[in-house]
Amino acid sequence: MTSQTDPAITIDLPLTREDPDLLKREITRGLLANPKTLPSKLFYDERGSTLFEQICELPEYYQTRTEHQLLTRWADEIVSISEAEELVELGSGAATKTRVLLDAMANVNQLHYFVPFDVDETIVRRVSEELVREYPGLHIHGVVGDFLVHLEHIPEGGKRLVVILGGTIGNLPALAAHEFLSSVNSEMAPGDYFLLGVQLITDRNRLEAAYNDQQGITAKFNKNIIRVLHNQFGSQSDSESFDHVARYNEADHRIEMWLCSREDQTLGIQDLDLTVHLKQGEEIRTEISTKYDRPLAEELLASSGFALVKWYSDPDSLIGLALAKKP
Ligand code: AVJ
Repeated sequence: MTSQTDPAITIDLPLTREDPDLLKREITRGLLANPKTLPSKLFYDERGSTLFEQICELPEYYQTRTEHQLLTRWADEIVSISEAEELVELGSGAATKTRVLLDAMANVNQLHYFVPFDVDETIVRRVSEELVREYPGLHIHGVVGDFLVHLEHIPEGGKRLVVILGGTIGNLPALAAHEFLSSVNSEMAPGDYFLLGVQLITDRNRLEAAYNDQQGITAKFNKNIIRVLHNQFGSQSDSESFDHVARYNEADHRIEMWLCSREDQTLGIQDLDLTVHLKQGEEIRTEISTKYDRPLAEELLASSGFALVKWYSDPDSLIGLALAKKP
């Protein structure tokens, strides 16, 4: 089932069409696990996507602007090496940085097709409508899906450049990241290119500050997951009965975000037929954000079937952009 808005836009909705109970099972499994967890993709309803866009502008959140600068510096070269005519972005969100690549493709008349792929339907529609206006002649095939499940919905197109930016890959533990990139690889044709943006391991203070901003936007973003549980699954709990916690786990080189229960409470989730008890001080892990170094990123790419072509980084080694090819 696809829906037409503008003739240049097609939106495919596998997320709601296929297996609507998948997310429910994931939530149940996570809340019954030890420690308790919630899937990070739950953050991104309309409010969550907006809060994430605000995070990207925070003074403490150096990641977005650093990656944006890197892309601005290297987009022409990336487009020239890849010869891509179709850009596929997994976890496209507001697609702000994507415009740098779209511009570089348009400049050399290589821009034909864009595939924004995201879990949030509102943002896929908004971005699609904005981009057809900004790039006359561009065709957009948006996919509202879970990129761990619905990759086969990426349409056939010309020579492709698939991108995963913003450190999105960091949300996955090592094995899942490898499995995910292997499936991305198998959806691609030999000769297609892949651009992976990773957040690099750096000092703990800088990392923890980026997830504990002064304005409290990250705290709101974290607690939004409780509102999503309420709005979409009929849970009773109040997001203000939790404290935002973000800390660096050095052994696993990742930031972890947790929600810490302020009191003994019972989390009843109607649509899941699930009741979970939380003790005062008990934490639910809502996100991991794995940091990489160049060897780790190269190993991930190689084990997933990619050949590294170029590695780009900033002077402070905060962000890595790996351009790779499917041989
Ligand atoms: C979208 C997963 C890359 O981990 O830095 C930002 C999400 N969470 N602040 C990240 C996030 C809290 C972000 N990623």
